[in-house]
Amino acid sequence: MKSYGKLLAVGLVCVAGVAAAKEGVTNPVVKERMDVMQVIRANTGALGDMASGKAAFDGAKAAEAAAAIAGAAATIPTVFEPQETDPVSEAKPAIWENFSDFTTKADALTTAAQSLDTGSLDALKAGMGAVGGACKACHTDYRIQTN
Ligand code: HEC
Repeated sequence: MKSYGKLLAVGLVCVAGVAAAKEGVTNPVVKERMDVMQVIRANTGALGDMASGKAAFDGAKAAEAAAAIAGAAATIPTVFEPQETDPVSEAKPAIWENFSDFTTKADALTTAAQSLDTGSLDALKAGMGAVGGACKACHTDYRIQTN
């Protein structure tokens, strides 16, 4: 499952707009927000691979990935606004009880991605912690942990 996710993330880098949500999701509203997360994951994975040396550093590709994360993160408040669910959803109801905190955490990811300095490998490495931290801050409170 893990390696499948990795393959998926790599494969999606070039087609970041056509990411695939979790298998089995039937509610289209939930699918849409999962697709947004998959775009974010694919591009974060691409940056992570460069930062860790798994992939060659490419400043232009890194800038594109950072912009894709920022663009997708900016849609989080809109795609999560309807309180919809699905049997395979990992969204906690707390999202809609604390929606302004939730959107603050979405904004934090947008800002981290926009502030990411993709001018050099060292700068990218230095900025990745803020991006990963923004995922974790939101997932800890608002996503059911399945692993
Ligand atoms: C503002 C909150 C928030 C931020 C920030 C956030 N996520 Fe999420 N993420 C969620 C929630 C909530 C879900 C569960 C959605 C559902 O299952 O309905 C989720 C689900 C996911 C999923 C599973 C999608 C699927 O197909 O089931 C992935 C992958 C993911 N996030 C990656 C990331 C990564 C990588 C980052 C940071 C770069 C990130 N997320 C930042 C809230 C957030």
